[in-house]
Amino acid sequence: MTSSNSLDRKSQAWSALFSEPMSELVQRYTASVFFDQRLWRADIQGSLAHAEMLQAQGIISAQDLADIQRGLKQITQDIENGQFEWKLELEDVHLNIEARLTQLVGDAGKRLHTGRSRNDQVATDVRLWLRDEIDAIRELLKNLQRALVDVAAQHTQTVMPGFTHLQVAQPISFAHHLLAYVEMLSRDEERMGEIRHRVNRLPLGSAALAGTTYPLDRARVATTLGMVNAQGEPQLCQNSLDAVSDRDFAIEFTAAATLCMVHISRLSEELIIWMSQNFAFIQLADRFTTGSSIMPQKKNPDVPELARGKTGRVVGHLMGLITLMKGQPLAYNKDNQEDKEPLFDTVDTLKDTLRIFAEMIGGQTTSSGTKEGGLCVNAAHMEAAAKKGHATATDLADYLVKKGLPFRDAHETVAHAVKAATSHNCDLSELPLNVLQGFHASIEKDVYEVLSLHGSLNARNTVGGTAPAQVQAQIARHQQRLA
Ligand code: ARG
Repeated sequence: MTSSNSLDRKSQAWSALFSEPMSELVQRYTASVFFDQRLWRADIQGSLAHAEMLQAQGIISAQDLADIQRGLKQITQDIENGQFEWKLELEDVHLNIEARLTQLVGDAGKRLHTGRSRNDQVATDVRLWLRDEIDAIRELLKNLQRALVDVAAQHTQTVMPGFTHLQVAQPISFAHHLLAYVEMLSRDEERMGEIRHRVNRLPLGSAALAGTTYPLDRARVATTLGMVNAQGEPQLCQNSLDAVSDRDFAIEFTAAATLCMVHISRLSEELIIWMSQNFAFIQLADRFTTGSSIMPQKKNPDVPELARGKTGRVVGHLMGLITLMKGQPLAYNKDNQEDKEPLFDTVDTLKDTLRIFAEMIGGQTTSSGTKEGGLCVNAAHMEAAAKKGHATATDLADYLVKKGLPFRDAHETVAHAVKAATSHNCDLSELPLNVLQGFHASIEKDVYEVLSLHGSLNARNTVGGTAPAQVQAQIARHQQRLA
């Protein structure tokens, strides 16, 4: 029966029932081993915890446990050394490792799967793997925040135009602008931490879907695997059907990753705008830019552009995972195998992006411990840009309000003054005193301090405002939080 383009069922785990071999095409279509092999460490970790519990419960012998431990140790070494042979016909990471274990240690290897199914096994593996990735991502999020805070600390007095509708609105400091991203990223970090609680729960013991007839000690396995809450209590999935079938933990992680990428995408868009010659607010180090094959003068911000582009890819993964789930009846369905590639790619994309941004903004650490080659800021250009567009018009209105005008009247008066400045081809702050007094008699010499960029900045001294004193306080808070 076995044809040359099909593989022998004997090498598979469920062979006895089947009368014909699986075609090569179906085998390739259903196999996941070439992408899920990256779960190998979690798979072995889960198997060791399971086996140790089986022995403690008297379900397998001490000798079986010792054999399983020895075999899994050998397999760990082989995989680490690149000597493990992954076989497509063994479908996935779980069956590959189990088959090799049996080859190495005999019957003990066949006993490992007692009271377990690949359904609760894979759910456990993905959770263990994702938990560690979340920890790594939270560290990377901290590093990027640190880089932003470091640059911000140098620019509490660097004035730039703040925009709404991409029109000059009010002066802000460059530090204040950067700290807006620190806030976003700190929420991303917080969100990842909250999701980690729900990821870190144990499906194992649910078996295929209904639980198992063996007297398993699920709490023990959870504790061994570090699936415990802050009080050290084991965290178990409490319904076997739910445990093997839902991937909401992967979906909410991807949603959080998407939000984080959206934040980075907004920052990217700004870096791109700021780097264009018409703004010239910043320069990125050459190693983050590329040239053009035809235009010799070009230096393109490829890294932020790609980050903006890769955000679309992560958004796509989120849509893919949600769609994957929506039509599935309980419990496990093979559809769920499709959770891995989007999830893996989301993790890879986010980690690479966070790493590269931390270095692009903050620079590289030199041998003397200082940072070099980060974001290069052109403070003079930023300040010049803030002087276009009458950025302190609101300050003049506020000045008139303090002289007793109702705000709406002050607003209207300033609009006339802005019109005059525009026709004089100058900024509002450059109009002579007698001209300003023509708009309202209460205007005095002290108005020029109010109309100045730094005067405007200093005046916004409420919590969360752009005044250097407020921004300094925020920087200190962040530094302490990120220490
Ligand atoms: N490779 C499978 C997956 O990723 C493992 C679980 C398979 N379970 C099954 N009943 N076929 O989902």
